[in-house]
Amino acid sequence: MAGKVLATLFFEPSTQTRLTFETAMLRMGGHVVSVTDAKTSSSAIKGEKLIDTGRMIDGYADLAVIRHMDEDSAKVLAEGARAPVINAGNGSGQHPTQALMDIYTIQKEKGRLNNLTVTLAGDLKNGRTVHSLSLLLGKYGPRFKFVSPEELRMPEEITQLLRADGIDVVETTNLTEAVAKSDVLYMTRIQRERFTDPAEYNRLKGTYVVDNELIQKSKHGITIMHPLPRVDEIAMEVDNYEGAAYFRQAANGVPIRMAVISLVTGLD
Ligand code: NCD
Repeated sequence: MAGKVLATLFFEPSTQTRLTFETAMLRMGGHVVSVTDAKTSSSAIKGEKLIDTGRMIDGYADLAVIRHMDEDSAKVLAEGARAPVINAGNGSGQHPTQALMDIYTIQKEKGRLNNLTVTLAGDLKNGRTVHSLSLLLGKYGPRFKFVSPEELRMPEEITQLLRADGIDVVETTNLTEAVAKSDVLYMTRIQRERFTDPAEYNRLKGTYVVDNELIQKSKHGITIMHPLPRVDEIAMEVDNYEGAAYFRQAANGVPIRMAVISLVTGLD
């Protein structure tokens, strides 16, 4: 990547995703330019259109990574730019590179991707990580258990796609029952920033908490994952459990993003 420049445009908060993309580029000998608080500090506040941002990117960067609250953001930026654009989270839509690091983590922790029962739990409606992960992992024929409050169920278009592919999808509100038979629990936070009514958020947050008691009731050896940041849905005591994989999962972001950057710039 010597002499190449990666532009990271983050219109929504991030620690891990931006840092792992930037670390990945730096590790491969490339350079990084970034706007970290693009919503308030970039020219977007002056009315700059994303498609124009895309056109400008070609003037100085070889590829771009974008995180944005609009679902069509990465697509619009890519329409403007000739350089490759990587979607690092488009509102409640998708988070594809997270899904790649998630299945890489499952492969490393479990030694396989097929023949697994996987519980996805928390805010399945607004969480983009579970949207991307369910579709990607769906290629490996899992048995899925989707655990959420009734209001935060997985979007129907996703469950329909999975079922049409013959995937066994069980939707439930009962986390304890789900983990008793699961090889992996993928926990997510309730996505506060997607709620228009703070009272609704306050009512739903804390619906599920993974603690040592829940681990005791889970299938032996269950792997616990989380895209991070966690709020209060995984108790700190769980960090000492050997199957708690979320920090290993986060570290896997660097090699995966090195691979993605290499692929899209044609240097694989
Ligand atoms: C996730 C995201 O931004 O969608 N974080 C991440 O990229 N690791 C999950 C979240 O914010 O809850």
